[in-house]
Amino acid sequence: MGLFRKKPLNTVNASEGEIHGGHALGRHLSVRDLTFFGIAAIIGAGSFSSMGQACFSGGPGVVLLFVLCGIACGFTALCYAEFAARVPASGSAYTYAYVSFGEVFAWIIGWALLMEYSIGNIYVAFSWSGYFTNLLDGLGLHLPEWLTINYRSASKAFVEGTAGEGMNAWTTAPKLGSLRIIFDLPAVMINALITWLVYTGVKESRNASNAMVIVKLAIIALVVIVGAFYVDINNWVPFMPNGFGGVMAGVSAVFFAYIGFDAVSTLAEESKDPQRDLPRGMIWSLVICTVVYILLALVLTGMVGWSQLGVSDPLAEVFQLRGVKWMLFIVSIAAVVAMTSVMLVFQLGQPRIWMSMSRDGLLPKKFASIHPKYKTPGFSTIVTGLVVGIPIFFTDETFILDFTSIGTLFAFVLVCGGVLVLPQRAKEKGRFHLPHINSRWNAPILLLVVLSLILRFVPDYFPGLLDVVGHAAQNIPQIFFWPLTVVVIVLAHIKNWSLVPVLGLLSCCYLLTGMAVSNWFWFAVWLVIGLACYFAYGYRHSKLASAQV
Ligand code: ALA
Repeated sequence: MGLFRKKPLNTVNASEGEIHGGHALGRHLSVRDLTFFGIAAIIGAGSFSSMGQACFSGGPGVVLLFVLCGIACGFTALCYAEFAARVPASGSAYTYAYVSFGEVFAWIIGWALLMEYSIGNIYVAFSWSGYFTNLLDGLGLHLPEWLTINYRSASKAFVEGTAGEGMNAWTTAPKLGSLRIIFDLPAVMINALITWLVYTGVKESRNASNAMVIVKLAIIALVVIVGAFYVDINNWVPFMPNGFGGVMAGVSAVFFAYIGFDAVSTLAEESKDPQRDLPRGMIWSLVICTVVYILLALVLTGMVGWSQLGVSDPLAEVFQLRGVKWMLFIVSIAAVVAMTSVMLVFQLGQPRIWMSMSRDGLLPKKFASIHPKYKTPGFSTIVTGLVVGIPIFFTDETFILDFTSIGTLFAFVLVCGGVLVLPQRAKEKGRFHLPHINSRWNAPILLLVVLSLILRFVPDYFPGLLDVVGHAAQNIPQIFFWPLTVVVIVLAHIKNWSLVPVLGLLSCCYLLTGMAVSNWFWFAVWLVIGLACYFAYGYRHSKLASAQV
């Protein structure tokens, strides 16, 4: 059936050279560059902003969530790596879904990745602006509030009567007729600047990104070392002040911090040896960042009481509260640099996914055009700049954060699932191979171990799920999760599936259960809009459709 037509694996590699306009992307990136790109994409707004909210809801126990997300992302990274070794083309998970599940799934993934790269960048731009404004204030330059906050936040602050930046912005903003002029100028500017940088060339972007990674890792190391001297282990007690539910409430925020390692896979066509280097780049960057996050979470929750961390700039806040004023400026610089590099990599990734979709006929040809001079997907890059830039005027941070995490997790689930249906391949020297651990008995045994641990240590867990009185709506995702787990484990047993993708699939599904039901609703709306676009254009123009005629 047309909807599930699959791209044959061997044609993906062959189609790399077939780029519109006869220009190919430049192959400049080594494994070190790719690892740096990964770190550039991972450490950013998650660690400098959203981590505060996660610490506030989970307490020191948030460290567990970092471990959990690190494990889920680790399994997923191995699956991405397996695909990258087989399909060295720019489209990332989109292309992987095309070869394993078929066209409509590929489209859905492409649509979900839009949430990761473009919508995610909106959150990063807002957070960037917060730290940048702090830096300017430190230098004695004060921007008026109506130029440093988004319209929705200001209007919300006014309606709720909350004193502070939002209220000030609302009351002092100039007016155009009855409309108040309020927007986040630094967020708009950084987006324009990044778009221009990415438009003008991947080599230039690489140099900029490598330098930024060195600066941010050095400063984060300083934060951890200096912070360690101020840790008071009494702050780690109680470990989970709001229970495990409180820890899981931070899942969007913590997972957001991990997003980005997969962006490495969009650079397949700019890597010198993608089948060897992409897997390594992804895995190295994830391992390094997981260690950094766990240390950072321990230091943050050890320096001050967890209840003081519910702020948008937690790394600056802890030093402020402990009176280490000289660190404030350094932290703000690190934050600005870190978030700039995240934006850079995401803004590089999105156009490359569109480019792949366009080559397959699912988007208009223009999206695959390569700039003759800069050798970058110029048109897609500009459209990405607009997709990030325009909503900056209309949205706020919270909605964007949840939306990004749910879309990305969804893509991860499909990538792990995709590996399960790939045919076996022979070992080739110099290429990554996913370690094959047969899940025939391992998976059911693991499930039994987990169930017995839950029954032993959290006896109320399963009866609590069925508590329809207070928590019915928020328990729905978990009520779906357990039957799904049993089905996957039974299939794993029958079909001898490989254990790593099975665990990747289930751990990402588990993280999805932390998303609020309202997010699921908006996500479903988003998918329906996406499917409507697919049927209006992609289904009819798909290259595979014309091949079948
Ligand atoms: N992981 C990226 C960040 O935290 C998206 O900014």
